[in-house]
Amino acid sequence: MPKVTIDGVSIEVEAGTTILNAARKIGGDLVPPAMCYYSKLKGSGGKCRVCLVEISKGSEANPNPMPKLQASCCTPIADGMEVKNMTSQKVQDMRKGVVEFLLINHPLDCPICDQAGECDLQNLGFDYGAQTTRYQEGRRTFDKIDIGDKIQLHMTRCILCYRCTYVADQLTPHRDHGVLNRGDASEISTYISHAIDNDFSGNMIDVCPVGALTDKTFRFKSRVWFLKPYRAHRQCSHEKCNGQVDLWMFGNDVYRVTARKDEYHEVESFICNECRFDHKNKADWTIEGPRKLEKWSVINQGKYMKRTAEVNIDTEKALLLGRDQDRKRISMVAPEEAKKK
Ligand code: SF4
Ligand code: FES
Repeated sequence: MPKVTIDGVSIEVEAGTTILNAARKIGGDLVPPAMCYYSKLKGSGGKCRVCLVEISKGSEANPNPMPKLQASCCTPIADGMEVKNMTSQKVQDMRKGVVEFLLINHPLDCPICDQAGECDLQNLGFDYGAQTTRYQEGRRTFDKIDIGDKIQLHMTRCILCYRCTYVADQLTPHRDHGVLNRGDASEISTYISHAIDNDFSGNMIDVCPVGALTDKTFRFKSRVWFLKPYRAHRQCSHEKCNGQVDLWMFGNDVYRVTARKDEYHEVESFICNECRFDHKNKADWTIEGPRKLEKWSVINQGKYMKRTAEVNIDTEKALLLGRDQDRKRISMVAPEEAKKK
């Protein structure tokens, strides 16, 4: 089997494997990020450019380096190929540029976006984003589009990765949608709304790497980091759905149902709309246990937390008198009452 070396780590993989998938077989930090490639969607990849890598040696037969960076999601490996990802300054600089480019039109509305905390672009922004913008032109604006009564499209947040069009293409019976126009006028066609009568349209929400497609049954209900994800399943009658999901709970309330995702934020198997939207009752599910957070994000592993200086709080001084009803609600005791006790 052909051998490829990525950031100094060698692996033998089947001929035809892409650099990205070879890196995923090795795992760890050397795996390039991916915003448009999705292993479960045929034809995906090659759109976003965040996965570009440097090929410092083409192959054993032709050891010349490739002059330009290559998209790892659609470049097959060759025997003896040597690839640099995290060890290449060129790649790091390019990735900063791509993130800046993607953020030209993507609004920084993470504080109100449902995807915040599990958004691939937000994570990339933390790693590669610039502090300021150089962009002075007007940004694209769009009205929000309802895709049926359960999904809403925010075109302003879309990075045109095409994943949702592949879902509609590959999981629905007909192709009524796509990307209309070109350049900065490109947009996901409103004909995507024709996909709503399909039992699997909700999967567009899961594959969207940003918050452009949102679940209207969950919109603005909670931030994801306040919820506890649990592995759960139910006996689903749909022949193509295995009923295996993640339940996002707050106490005993089910706030959201999603497909199970792997460490690359890709769903393990697509779920039907009935499981996703119509079973928000804990009793409908068999809960298997808490879900592990597979991939780092801004909300886990303390990746972006800084140690702060120790602060001594003078509780007496910090207590506010406030209104009686407020004190009761938050169980605070007024300082005079506290002294009496
Ligand atoms: S709506 Fe989401 S999934 Fe669809 S193209 Fe835009 S970013 Fe990609
Ligand atoms: S993941 Fe390779 S170009 Fe988008």
